Amino acid sequence: MLGQKIVLLDDGSGYCSQLKLIFDFIGQPSQVYSNYQSISIPSEDILAFVVLPDGSHHLLAEIHNLYASIPILTTMDDPSQALAPQIFDAIHWPIEQQQLLKVLHRCQNHSLRRHQAHLSAIGGEMDGLLVGKSQVIEDLRQIVQRVANSDVNVLVLGESGTGKEVVARCLHQLSDRCQGPFVPVNCGAIPSELLESELFGHEKGAFTGAVAARKGRFEMAMGGTIFLDEIGDMPLAMQVKLLRVLQERCFERVGSNKSIQIDVRVVAATHRNLEQAVADGSFREDLYYRLNVFPIEMPALRQRVGDLPLLINDISLRLQEHYQARVQFTSKALEALSQHAWPGNIRELCNLLERLMVLLPDGIIDASDLPSKYRGDATLAEVKLEEIEGTHVQEPLTFDLPNQGVNLKEMLVDTELALIKHALQINDGVVARAADYLTMRRTTLVEKMRKYNIKRPHTEMAEAI
Ligand SMILES: Nc1ncnc2c1ncn2[C@@H]1O[C@H](COP(=O)(O)OP(=O)(O)OP(=O)(O)O)[C@@H](O)[C@H]1O
Ligand SMILES: [Mg+2]
Repeated sequence: MLGQKIVLLDDGSGYCSQLKLIFDFIGQPSQVYSNYQSISIPSEDILAFVVLPDGSHHLLAEIHNLYASIPILTTMDDPSQALAPQIFDAIHWPIEQQQLLKVLHRCQNHSLRRHQAHLSAIGGEMDGLLVGKSQVIEDLRQIVQRVANSDVNVLVLGESGTGKEVVARCLHQLSDRCQGPFVPVNCGAIPSELLESELFGHEKGAFTGAVAARKGRFEMAMGGTIFLDEIGDMPLAMQVKLLRVLQERCFERVGSNKSIQIDVRVVAATHRNLEQAVADGSFREDLYYRLNVFPIEMPALRQRVGDLPLLINDISLRLQEHYQARVQFTSKALEALSQHAWPGNIRELCNLLERLMVLLPDGIIDASDLPSKYRGDATLAEVKLEEIEGTHVQEPLTFDLPNQGVNLKEMLVDTELALIKHALQINDGVVARAADYLTMRRTTLVEKMRKYNIKRPHTEMAEAI
């Protein structure tokens, strides 16, 4: 949905070209049409219509009939009572940037809901789990749907943070086993000497410390799905035991010779290149083929940046409950995010949203509010400074942290305050230079100074803010 357009219907009054200029300025794509019959873009690419003051009421009703689910914005001061219900929101004249951005965000949210409704119509139960409408995700949804109900072993591959566990849960939820348990095991996080009893359980007295009998994860997963996460990190000795269990479909608890039949679907995942691991001798080839009956490759986020708005909406709804706040992005901020390489994939996106929610609760986030590595121009600015000063400009910040814990939100606000004051101090109170120093826009710094009630230090200032 990135790049959805505002359609401006020209009423010949001259307002249209002014509005187009404003949309261009804030980075919102728009297109002018002289009548609605000539609109040539598909409806899913339209964010909203703008009907101008001299646009006839008849036109407004026609558009509403033709494009019922797309918001109509108007600059009419006083639309008639009969038309009021068809109008989504008003743009007040003269235009005020904040008001315009709020209206655009309402339209974006509306559009996201429209897409989600469409997705739930086509994607059923998978919708809330596998968010996205890019072709790679549509294909993935089909694959997951196809394989969910067979009991074949599935190997989910992909970079870190791409949603491998999300897919494993999807497979479980869409299978006949969905009433049974879903049991995840992080094979890389359990010490190798404990892994066998963790997976297969043990009898009382099987080893020092085994004070009572205990079920293993395979037993806990009976009738359901076991998710062997980070299988590429499983020690070789354990790989042999797992292979035997997968071949014979039965196992024994440690310290017991009673065989237990498994009725468990196995889904494994790893961010490692298992073929390479097989070649290196750190992963058994026979186990690889046993697990890799059906491989699913997760796409990296940079391969599907078109899904960013939907993902942001989904993640921020999840975080909203905890932080009682939401974040919204301007088109320029979304554009900057879509240029980022996302090495940490969706997990990195989750972390960024959480950070912004703490720093700017309920804020409308512009590109300049993003941390420097997410701003398209940051690298260039940093390189320039490095060239000038011949040194690294970003020293790591260090803190003396109290043992009893910290209030992260307050601490981040304090840090921001301190950095702004410092920037003003060393730049003689000249806001434009302080903003450059902080690699943010001057207007953003002015807003922050207002928010925190920061006054410029008393100096003879050559420049007004
Ligand atoms: N399609 C998606 N829609 C919404 N959120 C998602 C999606 N995929 C992943 N996430 C979120 O991204 C985060 C990482 O997902 P997950 O743990 O499944 O990734 P992973 O590939 O298993 O990562 P790792 O290799 O680091 O274990 C989770 O918070 C998850 O909820
Ligand atoms: Mg994982």
